[in-house]
Amino acid sequence: MALIDRAVAVCPEPLVCNQVEYHPYLDQTAVRAACRAHDLALVAYSPIAKGSVRGDETLAAIARSHRKSAAQVCLRWLIQQGAVAIPRTSKIERLSENIDVFDFELAGEEMASISALGRPDGRLTDFGFAPKWD
Ligand SMILES: NC(=O)c1ccc[n+]([C@@H]2O[C@H](COP(=O)([O-])OP(=O)(O)OC[C@H]3O[C@@H](n4cnc5c(N)ncnc54)[C@H](OP(=O)(O)O)[C@@H]3O)[C@@H](O)[C@H]2O)c1
Repeated sequence: MALIDRAVAVCPEPLVCNQVEYHPYLDQTAVRAACRAHDLALVAYSPIAKGSVRGDETLAAIARSHRKSAAQVCLRWLIQQGAVAIPRTSKIERLSENIDVFDFELAGEEMASISALGRPDGRLTDFGFAPKWD
């Protein structure tokens, strides 16, 4: 949070978004709060945890009830929080799958059970030059 506060304070131009790793295995509550406080959009990179959500039982169970895939449920969870998700794929059929997330809605308890998947070792990208994360 301190880094976002500082970035906003020192940048001569208005900041509009913050791109951070965000998926169900990484709790980003603090970053989300800081983005909200500064009216920044949160852009979620590695939004499907580099593809690893595909074997997730919690997501798969929710996905079955909506006739969607685990990746689609994961992306829906992000956009329902107001985040921007930027999944990467090399497969044309997955491009269609990943954009097809605007015709269903996750219930509050489904959102909560996905949020509960966050874990201390959930971060996938942690460069040596990275700061101490919240
Ligand atoms: N700012 C930064 O420091 C930073 C760091 C990392 C990434 N990024 C950005 O974030 C974007 C995405 O991140 P990412 O590539 O790390 O991870 P990601 O989008 O979470 O996952 C990509 C992986 O998921 C697979 N995939 C895509 N759609 C799928 C689906 N519907 N079902 C199952 N698997 C699926 C892809 O394989 P296939 O190709 O086989 O579909 C690929 O292996 C990148 O394009 C990059 O621009 C930014």
